Formats: sequence, C-alpha cells, structure tokens
Amino acid sequence: MPKVIALAGKGGTGKTTTSALLLKYLTEKKVTPVLAVDADANANLNELLGLKVNNTLGKIRKELKDEMPPGMTRDQFMEMKIHQALIEESGFDLMVMGQPDGPGCYCAANQYLAMTMDKLAENYAYIIVDNEAGMEHLSRMNLRSIDYLLIVSDPSSRGILTAKRIADITGPLKLEVKSQHLIVNRAPDPVPSALQEKIDDAVSQAELPLGGIFSSSNDLINQELSGGSYLQLPNDSKIIRQAFDVFDKIFA
Ligand SMILES: Nc1ncnc2c1ncn2[C@@H]1O[C@H](COP(=O)(O)OP(=O)(O)O)[C@@H](O)[C@H]1O
Ligand SMILES: [Mg+2]
Repeated sequence: MPKVIALAGKGGTGKTTTSALLLKYLTEKKVTPVLAVDADANANLNELLGLKVNNTLGKIRKELKDEMPPGMTRDQFMEMKIHQALIEESGFDLMVMGQPDGPGCYCAANQYLAMTMDKLAENYAYIIVDNEAGMEHLSRMNLRSIDYLLIVSDPSSRGILTAKRIADITGPLKLEVKSQHLIVNRAPDPVPSALQEKIDDAVSQAELPLGGIFSSSNDLINQELSGGSYLQLPNDSKIIRQAFDVFDKIFA
C-alpha cells in the first residue's frame, strides 16, 4: 500500500511549494514511483514542475455522464480515461483533479472515479496530495487514511493557531491521520530569537509537532518567475538543503 502524504493549510502559505519540494525529495531518494495529486480547483502544481496539463479528473467525470463508446464497459472506459489524464514523468506521475462538481455531489461518476483512483493508487510507493485550503477532496478521493499530514503556516502565532484548527477538521471528515507535522514557511533567515520563541510557544499551545522551518527563499521566487521546474533547483541551494533535512526527520 502506498504511503499518503497530504498538504493542508491556509491559501498562500506554501502547500504547493512544499508539495513540489517533497516531490523532488522523494524522486531523488528514489522512493518511487510517486503519484502527485493536484487537488486544488485552481491547479498550479504543474507550473512549479514545468508541466502542461491537458486533462483533469473533473473533465473525465463530465464525459462519464455521456454515452459509453460501443463495446466498452464503464470500468474499461474509466481506466482508459484516467490513464490518459495521467502525466507520466520519470519517477512520478501527476494527476490533476480540476473543478469539482457542485457541493455535496456524490453522484455515481464520483464513486466510479474514487474506485478507479483506489486501483491506480496501488501502483505507487508514495502519494502526495496538494490540497486547497479545505480538504474536501481528500474524503472524495476514497483516501480514508493519511500517513503524514503536513500543515503549512506562515511564521506567526495566529497562523500557527489557524494551522491547528485546520488539523482539527480531519476528524469530522472521517479521515484517519497517522501523523501530523507543522511546517512554518517563509521565515526570515536567520530566524530572530524572538520569533523562534513565539513559534515554540504557539507550537506547544497548538499541540502540533513542529516538522521544521523553511526560510523565505529568493531561489524559489526566481525559479517560479523563470518558469523553471522546482525539480531542477540545485541540491546545494539553501531551501533544498533545509527542506531535505526537514523531510529526513519527518519520514525517518
Ligand atoms: N519559502 C518561500 N520563499 C519564497 N516564496 C515562497 C516560499 N513559499 C512559498 N512562496 C511563494 O508564495 C506563493 C504562494 O505559495 P504556494 O505554495 O502557491 O501556496 P499555497 O499552495 O498554500 O496556496 C507562491 O508565489 C510561492 O512562490
Ligand atoms: Mg496551492
């Protein structure tokens, strides 16, 4: 069974950035194959990986409501479509969820999708799910159990307490979370001791174990501006060293 890593946190805190760094980490450590799932309706993980998206699960779901091609069962059609929507790269595949149906729609198409995703998931060592702020997609995907929930926050007490509230939502969504860690992102470099104290305080108040702190990084900004893949960031760049150290600790 694959290990599932899910990203959560308020919009703009760095979930997609962390997903891309994580993908670099797993592919370089050769714990592959990895399935990266972009579960944000406004998908943009592909951009950080320098990839183009032509098809999404959302589009497939629409086609499922149409007539099946003759001589094909719905299952066969689904499997074919899902493989068409998979972007296959070396060491990992990317699947983009796209636009969801209306709220609360658990129609037949969604169930077929979830079942087929389940079968697809078995092919991977790790699955990374880059979420939007809410985590509804997770329960929709049949992923009932998360091995590692990473909650990303900005470097402020309020941000960290918000991260805690987001972590608490997983209960009502009926998701089993085996471990959870806070990632504090875009911290000044070096972290001023007053800020470090605040972070430590908020972390102990929130009872959310601190996975690590990522600095605000010009390398990331420049790479995004140039449209280059985060997978190509040099391994000796500060942000990559930081991220790899943090992931080494979390996934040890
Ligand atoms: N450590 C960092 N240093 C500099 N810029 C960052 C850092 N983390 C994220 N960003 C920038 O912040 C913006 C939002 O990050 P993103 O990962 O898309 O957030 P989310 O997926 O949580 O909405 C992006 O433009 C990204 O490049
Ligand atoms: Mg994002």
